[in-house]
Amino acid sequence: MKPFFITTPIYYANDEPHIGHAYTTVAADILARMERLRNREVIFSTGTDEHGAKIAEKAREAGQDPQLFVDAVAETFQGLWEKLNISLSENAFIRTTNKDHIKVVQKVLAELYQNGALYRGTYKGLYCVGCEQYKNEGDLVNGKCPDHDRVPEVMEEESYMLKMTELQSTLLEHVRSKKFHIYPSQYEKEVTSFLENQTLEDISLSRKNVTWGVPLPFDETHTTYVWADAFLNYLTVLGWSGEGKVPEAWPADIQLVGKDILRVHATIWPIMLLHLGVPLPKLLYTHGHILSAGKKMSKTLGNVISINEMLSAFGTDGTRYLLFTMGHFGDDIDITFGRLTEKYNADLANGLGNLVSRIMKLGESLPTLPIVTEAGGSRIWSEQQQPLQISKILEATMERVSSANRYMDETKPWILVKENKGKFEKVMDNLFSQLSQISLEIEPFMPDTAEKIKTALKTGKTEALFQRIQ
Ligand code: MSP
Repeated sequence: MKPFFITTPIYYANDEPHIGHAYTTVAADILARMERLRNREVIFSTGTDEHGAKIAEKAREAGQDPQLFVDAVAETFQGLWEKLNISLSENAFIRTTNKDHIKVVQKVLAELYQNGALYRGTYKGLYCVGCEQYKNEGDLVNGKCPDHDRVPEVMEEESYMLKMTELQSTLLEHVRSKKFHIYPSQYEKEVTSFLENQTLEDISLSRKNVTWGVPLPFDETHTTYVWADAFLNYLTVLGWSGEGKVPEAWPADIQLVGKDILRVHATIWPIMLLHLGVPLPKLLYTHGHILSAGKKMSKTLGNVISINEMLSAFGTDGTRYLLFTMGHFGDDIDITFGRLTEKYNADLANGLGNLVSRIMKLGESLPTLPIVTEAGGSRIWSEQQQPLQISKILEATMERVSSANRYMDETKPWILVKENKGKFEKVMDNLFSQLSQISLEIEPFMPDTAEKIKTALKTGKTEALFQRIQ
C-alpha cells in the first residue's frame, strides 16, 4: 500500500526557528501520529530552505560564509524538533543545499526547458527580498510590502520564465473537482476566486544576480528561483532522481502550509507539477497565523512569544497541547503568555493531571488493579475521513477528561472506599477504563503523557503529570 505522505513547508534558514514554525510542524506531527495509529505506513518530512538573496544577505550581515551560516541554523531547527518530540521519518529532514537535492533541481529545470515550459525572456517587476517574490502594485501599502515594511526593488532582468497562463484552466479544474483539495473551505474559496478572476502571468524562475542558489544547467549565469528550488524538496525528500517515475509515496496525502504561502503552493507548485506530468498533491491543508495579543509577532513590537520559553514553562506535551487549544486550527489564533498559563492550569494541571493523580491515589486502596485492555478502545478519529480536524478532535478528547472528573465528584469514591467496597471497585473499574481511553486518544497530541498514563494503569504508580504554575 502507498505510504501516507505528509509534509510541512521547509523553513527559511535565515534565523532561529519560532513559534509559527513549531505550530505547523507539531500539527503535521499530530496528523502523522494519527495515521500511524490507523496502521498506515507514514512518511513525514520537514526541512530548511537554504538558498536565495535573503539568506545570503543575512549571512553577509553576520560576517559568515553562507554554507556555514545555514548549517548552524539547520541544526537549531533539528534541535527544536527533538525537543518537541516530532516523529519525523528517517532521512526526512531535507536541506536544499544537499547535493542530491541540487542535482534533481537541475535535472527538473533542464526538463522544463526542454519541454518548452521554461523559456528565455525578460522580466520587469517590483521585487520584495523579504518575501522572495515579485509583488503587484495592489499588494503594496504606501508603496511598501506590508509583510516586511520595505520598499520593493524595481528589477528588470533577463530571465527564464515558466508558462503559467496556459495551464490556468487546468489548475482551476483540479481545484474545483477537489482532485487538488484546498482545505479548509475559506482558503479554497480564496484560491478559486483568484483563479477565476485574475490572469496568472508567466513567472520568472531564474535570477541573474543571486549567486547563492542552484545554477541552471543550461545557463550557468542564472540561478534557480528559490521557490522552485524549495518546492522540489517535496519530491527529493522521497529520493526521486528527477526523471522517470516518481516514488510511490507521491502524491503527498497532506501538505501543510500557513496561509502566507498558500498562493504560491496553489499556483506555482501545481503548475510546475502539471508541466512535469507529475500528479498534484491530494490535500493542501492551510492554517491561519498565531498572533500575540492581537498583533503579528515582531521584535520591534516586543510581543514575540518564544517557543523555548513555552517549552520551559509548559514542557513538551504542555506546549503541544496549548498550541492547538487556544483557537481552531485553520483560523488565526491569538495568544498571550498569561492566557497560555491559565489554560495550562485549568486543562492540564487541574484537569488531566488532577484526574490521573486522584484516580491513582484511590487505586492504592484496591485489592488488585483493574485490567484494562487496549483493544477495547477505538479512537475518535479512527473512522473519520481526511482531512482530520485537529482542534475538534482534541476538544472531544478533553471533554472525556471533564466528564471523568465530574463522574468522580458525583460518585465520591473516597467515601465509597470506606462505606461500600463493592460499589467502590465498580466505580474504580469505570475510572480506569476511562483513563485508558483518554490515554489512547491523547497519544498523538501528548505522546509522553499518554505513555505515562498507560504505565500508571499497569503498575499502579504515577508521578505528578502537570505541575500548577503560579
Ligand atoms: N521557505 C518558505 C517555504 C517553502 S516551502 C516549499 C517559507 N519559509 S518560512 O520560514 O517563512 O515559513 C513559513 C511558514 O511558517 C508558514 O507558512 C507557516 O507554516 C509557518 N509560520 C510562520 N509564521 C507563522 C505564524 N505567526 N503563525 C503560524 N504559522 C506561521 O515561507
